[in-house]
Amino acid sequence: MIDNLVRENIKRLKPYTSARESFEKGILLDANENPFGAVIESDLELNRYPDPKQKEVRTRLGEVLGVASENLFFGVGSDEIIDLLIRIFCTPQKDEVMILEPTYGMYKVACDINDVKTSHVMLDENFQIDFNAIRNAWNENTKLIFLCNPNNPTGNLIDPHDILQLCSKYNSIIIVDEAYIDFANGCSLKDEVGKINNLVILRTFSKAWGLAGIRAGYCIANSEIISYLFKIKAPYNLNKLTSKTILDALDNYSTMQQNVVLINAERIRLISELQNLTGIIKICTSHANFVLVKFENAEKVFNYLISKNVIIRNRSNMPGLQDCLRITIGTKEENDFLLIKLREIL
Ligand SMILES: Cc1ncc(COP(=O)(O)O)c(C=O)c1O
Repeated sequence: MIDNLVRENIKRLKPYTSARESFEKGILLDANENPFGAVIESDLELNRYPDPKQKEVRTRLGEVLGVASENLFFGVGSDEIIDLLIRIFCTPQKDEVMILEPTYGMYKVACDINDVKTSHVMLDENFQIDFNAIRNAWNENTKLIFLCNPNNPTGNLIDPHDILQLCSKYNSIIIVDEAYIDFANGCSLKDEVGKINNLVILRTFSKAWGLAGIRAGYCIANSEIISYLFKIKAPYNLNKLTSKTILDALDNYSTMQQNVVLINAERIRLISELQNLTGIIKICTSHANFVLVKFENAEKVFNYLISKNVIIRNRSNMPGLQDCLRITIGTKEENDFLLIKLREIL
């Protein structure tokens, strides 16, 4: 089934075979590396190219998640994987990508860069899947459907039964972006990947793990899809410094979980304080490290906060989100300062 959705040129592609794919040990005179070593001190052999197959990090992450390593692929942030998936499945100017809106903006930007048409289907008034709207917009060229769970910027969870129904109903790859799933205890669909061929889960180290700076994302998918990702990626996409940091991070799983508990507690506190303010129309329920708030006059609030050096994200121009601002949960001190400034302007 996967093969039927893959672009013909990608199926035919003879991939580049990199030097470190064939040999990692020996007198390595095959990759034009520098035999004298790196110009800085490091025990990572930085003069040598990294492992193109990402073996160590995939094995270790697989152990932590309870997922087979053949179902894992690492990218330079999940943004790289979004781009690769579009390139595997979508022929420019022919195929289409459906995006369930309002959601993360990179899905559309990555399609635009690849000259792939997008259709934008609104979630319903509770930001849940609207099957009627999808039925009207779907066609045989719809190769991918992107949705985000918990959704960015609305923060809500999407009903997992609906997502599974989407997978079974449509002959498309359903990409569920779980960038914020660590904040939403136990709601992942990762264990369904073994059973459902067309389900791809996207994850990132940028949020709960606090590692946006290392640029590491991964996906959990059917091994056929994983093979295509390896077939078309840049040979050495995951660098040694990032891999080492991922391994260290995975040894600190409990620290990640503690930070999630702190952030979730701050989110609950911030929301209850916001409920006491005037000038707010709606505070969206959130299962992520941000909260979307609809103000009577978002522009005024947004500009005032900037003038006080508090930067939040204006989402007012997104479909269905007029006058909505997205606030990332900060430290207690940052959130208190934000609340003081909000009380001043509202
Ligand atoms: C839903 C969603 N997916 C993916 C990303 C990007 O993740 P990465 O930093 O791994 O590229 C973000 C970043 O804000 C996001 O909100």
